[in-house]
Formats: sequence, structure tokens, C-alpha cells
Amino acid sequence: MSQLNQDLTGQVALVTGAASGIGRDIAETYAKAGAAVGVADINLEAAQKVAAVIEESGGKALAIAMDVSSETAVNEGVEALVKHFGSIDILVSNAGIQIIDPIHKLSFSDWKKMQSIHLDGAFLTTKAALQYMYDSDKVGTVIYTGSVHSHEASLFKAPYVTAKHGLLGLCRVLAKEGAQYNVRSHVICPGFVKTPLVEKQIPEQAREKGISEEQVVNDIMLVNTVDKEFTSTADIAQLALFLAAFPTNVFTGQSIVASHGWFM
Ligand code: NAI
Repeated sequence: MSQLNQDLTGQVALVTGAASGIGRDIAETYAKAGAAVGVADINLEAAQKVAAVIEESGGKALAIAMDVSSETAVNEGVEALVKHFGSIDILVSNAGIQIIDPIHKLSFSDWKKMQSIHLDGAFLTTKAALQYMYDSDKVGTVIYTGSVHSHEASLFKAPYVTAKHGLLGLCRVLAKEGAQYNVRSHVICPGFVKTPLVEKQIPEQAREKGISEEQVVNDIMLVNTVDKEFTSTADIAQLALFLAAFPTNVFTGQSIVASHGWFM
């Protein structure tokens, strides 16, 4: 096997949900590694700021307005990326939201919203990317952002847990179908990462439990990790880089949990 490589020069990546949190760090890390990056997000203004930061530090980026639950928006976004940079070699399907409610109170529209962003979004971006990856001589890499909740349940997160479990199925089928085209797939499963997605939940939990926000975070860390450390966006970005740059397809179809021992 050749040496471990962290160089993405000549590769084109599309990262969804790239305007914030985990997606942003992956987009910036890929750009630093030499990839041209499509910074796709439903929030175009924020995506443009991330693309500008990448370009200011010498990288190549294209901000793309994309609601991942819209087939038209996804197809147009992927087409725009390929037109601009010539190919798509790496897809990171990462955009996500959180809705917390017990099953008996959860509205059907919230259920559908969650599946449309997490699962429809993963399917649509994958399908659009494969139209190009299957015709390419280069290796194609598809990475889904799952969660520890791809593997275990959590109270009041039925739509999230269901969607994140579903990504494992999509990833595994793609590993089988994509092999003959040199396309590999992975699910990265982070633990607790302090991004806007989870930061929004902390004040609410503090109010409900009558404790400080700091205590909420300490409790999460104490119960869920072996070393009381957060998973960082940089941890996840490094893992996404490792997988995208890995020289063989040995990891295809796998989920990799990065959670400081939350799930093992
Ligand atoms: P974030 O809230 O910081 O970023 C999510 C991004 O997705 C935002 O920029 C948002 O505008 C974008 N987005 C939302 N709906 C979209 C749509 N329909 N189309 C396109 N973009 C859309 O959240 P974070 O934490 O970075 O989450 C990224 C992924 O990581 C999500 O899939 C989340 O489920 C997953 N994750 C997060 C964990 C955490 O503790 N923060 C743990 C495990 C997984």
C-alpha cells in the first residue's frame, strides 16, 4: 500500500451544510489540502462568507445556494460545481437540523422535514454526484455525516435517530453498487460537537432542569464520554480528510464513530 496521503490537490469536493459547524471545518480543511470546494448551504450569505475566507487564504471555493431537500436545487448546484471546477470527486453530505420532541407529540410535518433534509438530502446529493463520479477515471468518495445516533437511541429524537440510522443503509448499498466504478462510501458518526446545532438546545435543557448551562454541558460530558472532552469540528474534519485522501478503498461501507467513547 502506498503511504498515507493528506493531499487533495486536483480533487473537487462538494460539502453540504458548509456554512457552519462541522461542514464549514471540513470545507476549509479540504481547501487547505488543495481541493477545490463547493460550499453548499441553504444559507447562501453564510456560504459566501466561508467561500471568501477560503479564497482569501489562497484556496479555491464556490458558494452554492442549495436546499438539499430540493431535487432541482441539488441538481443545479452539482451542475454548477462541475461546470466551474470540471468534476466532482468528493461528496460530503452533511447538512442537518435537529428537532426534539417525544414521538406522541411530534408533528407529521416535523417528521417529514427531518427525513427530507437528512435522508432525501443524502439521496439527492449522492444521485447527482454519481452521474459524474461513475463516468470519471478518478476515485470517488462519498461521506455522510451520521451521528452516535446512527448506532444508538436517544430520548425524544425519533426523527433524527431514524434518519441517522438510515444513512448507514444508504452508505452500505452505495459501497456495493459503487465498487465497480471506484466509488467508496463512509459514514462519520460524531459525538457531541459544540456547534450552533447543539448550542441551541443547551439553554432549553438548563431551563427544564433548573440548572446552569455549564452544568448541562458538564452532565453531557460526564455521562457520554470517557474523558469529558468534546468532539471538535477539527476532529471530524481531520477524519473526513483522512477518508477522502485514503489511497485504497479498504474502509468502504463503514461507519466510523468519533465520540470520545460516547458510543463503543
Ligand atoms: P450547524 O447547525 O452548525 O450546521 C448545519 C448547516 O446545515 C447550517 O449551515 C445550515 O444552514 C445547513 N442546513 C440546514 N438545512 C439545510 C438544507 N435544507 N439544505 C442545505 N443546508 C442546510 O450543525 P452541525 O452541528 O455542524 O451539523 C452538521 C451535521 O453534523 C448534521 O448532519 C448533524 O446532524 C451532524 N451531527 C452533529 C453533531 C453535533 O453534536 N453538533 C453530532 C453528530 C452529528
